Amino acid sequence: MCGIIGYVGRRPALPILMEGLRRLEYRGYDSAGIALADSGAVSVTKSAGRISVLEQQLDLEVAHTAGVGHTRWATHGAPTDINAHPHLDGSGRIAVIHNGIIENDRALRTYLERQGVQFTSETDTEVIAQLIGQFYDGNLEQAVRQALHEVTGTYGIAVICADEPDVIVAARQGSPLIIGVGQNEHLLASDAAAILAHTSQVIYLGDGEMARMTPDDLRLTTLDAIPVAKDVEEIEWSLEQIELAGYEHFMLKEICEQPSSLENCLRGRIDLREGTVHLGGLVDCSRELVRARRIIMTACGTAWHAALVGEYLFEDLARIPTETDYASEFRYRNPIIDDGTVVLAVSQSGETADTIAALTEAKRRGAMTLGVVNVVGSTLTRETDAGVYLHVGPEIGVASTKAFTGQVSVLALIACYLGRRKHMSPAAATQFIAALSQIPEQMSPLLEHVDHAKAVAQRYSGRDNWLYLGRGYNYPVALEGALKLKEISYIHAEGLPAAEMKHGPIALITEGMPVVVIATAGSQYDKMMSNISEVRSRGGSIIAIATDGDREIAKLAEHVLYVPDTLEPLQPLLTVIPLQLIAYHAAVLRGCNVDKPRNLAKSVTVE
Ligand code: AGP
Repeated sequence: MCGIIGYVGRRPALPILMEGLRRLEYRGYDSAGIALADSGAVSVTKSAGRISVLEQQLDLEVAHTAGVGHTRWATHGAPTDINAHPHLDGSGRIAVIHNGIIENDRALRTYLERQGVQFTSETDTEVIAQLIGQFYDGNLEQAVRQALHEVTGTYGIAVICADEPDVIVAARQGSPLIIGVGQNEHLLASDAAAILAHTSQVIYLGDGEMARMTPDDLRLTTLDAIPVAKDVEEIEWSLEQIELAGYEHFMLKEICEQPSSLENCLRGRIDLREGTVHLGGLVDCSRELVRARRIIMTACGTAWHAALVGEYLFEDLARIPTETDYASEFRYRNPIIDDGTVVLAVSQSGETADTIAALTEAKRRGAMTLGVVNVVGSTLTRETDAGVYLHVGPEIGVASTKAFTGQVSVLALIACYLGRRKHMSPAAATQFIAALSQIPEQMSPLLEHVDHAKAVAQRYSGRDNWLYLGRGYNYPVALEGALKLKEISYIHAEGLPAAEMKHGPIALITEGMPVVVIATAGSQYDKMMSNISEVRSRGGSIIAIATDGDREIAKLAEHVLYVPDTLEPLQPLLTVIPLQLIAYHAAVLRGCNVDKPRNLAKSVTVE
């Protein structure tokens, strides 16, 4: 949830830290701070608000060559100057930044207060700083190790000390930390975006591991001081992929990237001639996977909507009983995991705390676990038995868009992969794969005619309640369209299986209420037309998502946004596009911060 950056080397640290913080701001932003180490002192500057507020307080000319920086999304203590990171120990010579939650912070705080420690903040992070200060006797690495043995909870921390000004000590338990390896310098970050400008050579720190970094040396150990050998890996994303590339917002860039991101997602994975799917990440477990008696999908938010499409796909194509569970519910409902159960986690970031916890619970109960994740090397990808990456590139906008279509596409590939090993005929598979391979090209015109989505937003963005209705494969899309509108324009919207409207929500319909109806050609079309009539007879205003050439629906709807025809199981990849654009334009018209919506962060790494 928070952003972490660290630098130790031969160059001035401050410009590197500030650039890193600006790239991390989307991860969590209600306060920020910097600590710089020089022989004899640690200087800390921190404040509530945006990075720009912090920058005004800094002397950007200082030449210190080691330091750490942090952007915060508050979990313990309000977003104030005092609660901002870094936090100091009582001597003022040790500074700590932290991403995660310390679960025994109250007990440790009480213990330290009895030792005479006086706390200045409400944060759990200050408890770590004070604890390290208590143990410090000239060896920072050892003091951090001792302190962390007293701590329970999750952390990604970085620590500097006035008495060891060219050392950064870092440790990870449940919150991501990446080490950048440069020429006579090392960097540290909570995600690659913050350090990619300086190196693409990285090491992913694992849970229970520590790093001691100096300009010329890097020592990796476990918390028990056992040396750890790790490979240096190449980050696959280029910096320009992260930049805005001329778009006003990352979200619009990522909506418009979907044809190319989907091509990347499918690349090398489908064989049209053979009608087969190749998924290298599943090769070692395909036999066990094909014999699965039950599949449980688990995820949060948009990823949960993609997983719900996956549920329909797996039962439809592979005929494997499949259910979809919110990760936060799965882990506490005493789920039945028996022999032959596979738990599949879907996540863009691979760092969502609830999803990781659900997966850990599934493993504990003996399930085989799979991951469908975008961020390479993220925690989820290292916890699962196997998995398939999205390969849609970095998603910076807090509202997930290209990750959704990437998740649905990968789940479609897995469903076909399994189906071909069970009952799906080569002809059916070839037809499915051919239709899937057409989707990127079919998406492109939808992104050229954005003016209709803009017109819908202009007409209805002043309305405070919307309904989204869909059936079958488009029911999860109705949920996703509603979530997009809610999270970036702050308009209340509800997604429903269309038939459920008459069981209560129809009472909500008032004159002119915007009701988005996904009524594309297919098995549910006639039923959707009946739902449209029910809405219209109560004065609702219909915004229809329909299949190219459907003129009938135009007689019943105030607005019709057309999408190309495709197989029903693949329609979500197209019907979601106009809904993303409507939400985007509504947010812009309402003056909302599209890429950094209030109260939200890109990766929810706390429960
Ligand atoms: C979607 O637009 C939201 N940002 C949020 O619901 C997100 O999908 C959810 O937090 C899951 O994130 P993940 O895919 O990184 O696990």
